[in-house]
Amino acid sequence: MSEEHLWWQKGVVYQIYPRSFADSNGDGVGDLPGITGKLEYVASLGVDAVWLSPIFPSPMADFGYDVSDYMDIHPMFGTLEDFDSLVEKAHSLGLKVLLDYVPNHTSDEHEWFVESRSSRDNPKREWYIWRDAAPDGGFPNNWLSEFGGAAWAWDEATGQYYYRAYHEKQPDLNWRNPEVREAMMDVLRFWMNRGVDGFRVDAVNHLVEDESFRDDPPNPEWREGDAPYLSRIPVHTSNLPETHAEVAGMRRTLDAHGEAHGGERLLIGEVYLSGDELMAYYGEANAGFHMPTNMELVRAAWDARKISAYIESYEAALPEGAWPNWVVGNHDNGRIASRVGVGQARVAAMLLLTLRGTPTIYYGDEIGMTDGDIPPELERDPVAKSSPGFGRDPERTPMQWSEGENGGFSTAEPWLPVPDGNFATVESQEKDSRSMLALYRNLLALRRSEDALSVGSYAPFEVRDDLLAFVREHGGRRFLVALNFGDGSVDLGTPFGGRIVLSTHLDREGEDVSGSVSLRANEGIVVEAGG
Ligand code: GLC
Repeated sequence: MSEEHLWWQKGVVYQIYPRSFADSNGDGVGDLPGITGKLEYVASLGVDAVWLSPIFPSPMADFGYDVSDYMDIHPMFGTLEDFDSLVEKAHSLGLKVLLDYVPNHTSDEHEWFVESRSSRDNPKREWYIWRDAAPDGGFPNNWLSEFGGAAWAWDEATGQYYYRAYHEKQPDLNWRNPEVREAMMDVLRFWMNRGVDGFRVDAVNHLVEDESFRDDPPNPEWREGDAPYLSRIPVHTSNLPETHAEVAGMRRTLDAHGEAHGGERLLIGEVYLSGDELMAYYGEANAGFHMPTNMELVRAAWDARKISAYIESYEAALPEGAWPNWVVGNHDNGRIASRVGVGQARVAAMLLLTLRGTPTIYYGDEIGMTDGDIPPELERDPVAKSSPGFGRDPERTPMQWSEGENGGFSTAEPWLPVPDGNFATVESQEKDSRSMLALYRNLLALRRSEDALSVGSYAPFEVRDDLLAFVREHGGRRFLVALNFGDGSVDLGTPFGGRIVLSTHLDREGEDVSGSVSLRANEGIVVEAGG
């Protein structure tokens, strides 16, 4: 292992959606003891950190992204003691623990908002964003909510609107208020004092809004059927320049803690941007996020040339010293195996785990879980109701541990259904040396043993039709990664002499290649240079 890279630069993050990972107390919803009981499994994958989606007290209007107390655990998930046990167990297994940090909004049931809405002159009034109605009684301006409809919710008692970028039970905090900022820094300190190794910062683009509340302009490219929120260009509600100072403040809080207590704490920011706007989130002199999320593999068309072009432009745009990040799935987007097909999901896994930078794996993707089929009466996500067709339940279904009752997830009926009939499970894939799970374990082991694949340089090698091939190199070790994005065979035209160390099909390791090499349908290979 070379010393100059930090744990998170070589590391791989595994995202757990706590409601859906493992239910230890038979109420149909996952919990912390459930996760703790599965940490050996997580460690056995070969990942380095777990990121937990929110576990804090919450009325669950947005399934935990509406926090009513930042410094406690929702009883449904367990207790602070359960959390301490989870951290202790994770650390003993060599796993770091990252938490979701939701700074943009609280729940309307958070005591800060309860106070804020209690009267116009309450000291916490300015902790949120309150506006008078327009002269005709309508909304203060045309701002829209990500979850559909106007971004303004009326408060009858005090006769004003409050702003909410998401659900009406998620009022936006006012980050222009120094008291808010300080209270939210305390949240970071609280969890770091409990041993947390870092945070994924939620919805950071919405942190600050235009001070003079100007209307957002209409989006001329919006078409009927697109998400309603996209009908405006959110220039006054998203990614305002002021946001970067707030991110730098969070980072200073982490760095100060890291210096005092040893060990760098990691700050990842949820952003869906590209180019300069994305890069700006690394901050001046890289004093912002260690990594803003790079969501292009989630959004892009699954096309070898387009993805290759994107990788190159992303690499080229990274500021000096900024570290790359790659994501193929999360709790807000359809699963990779449904987006590109189960066969191509293997190619996607190889791509994700052989690119330069820090990859994030979404729970269940390692067994090729597909989107759940959720009948309307079982839909839970508020977005499924406010923006029909855009609900996120399908990618949040319970982890499929076994073919037993409820997929081995719970003894009770799960909060979201597990599929009927045949479905991918950890138990069955553990027994199959060529399963998706085996592929993930092999890829992660290879990445861990070869620095070239985590921190090595990236150079495109050959891109043609369905073929994407690139070379990774570090400390004299050189690897070719060749991926077939199609379901016909494809030949590598440029010679690369070496030996196959891994195929997505897990059946041609050790094969010598020199001159031309053929990739079968949906196949990717890693070739170690030599000979
Ligand atoms: C982020 C979360 C998403 C949530 C939203 C509001 O985008 O990933 O799940 O609904 O923020 O907190």
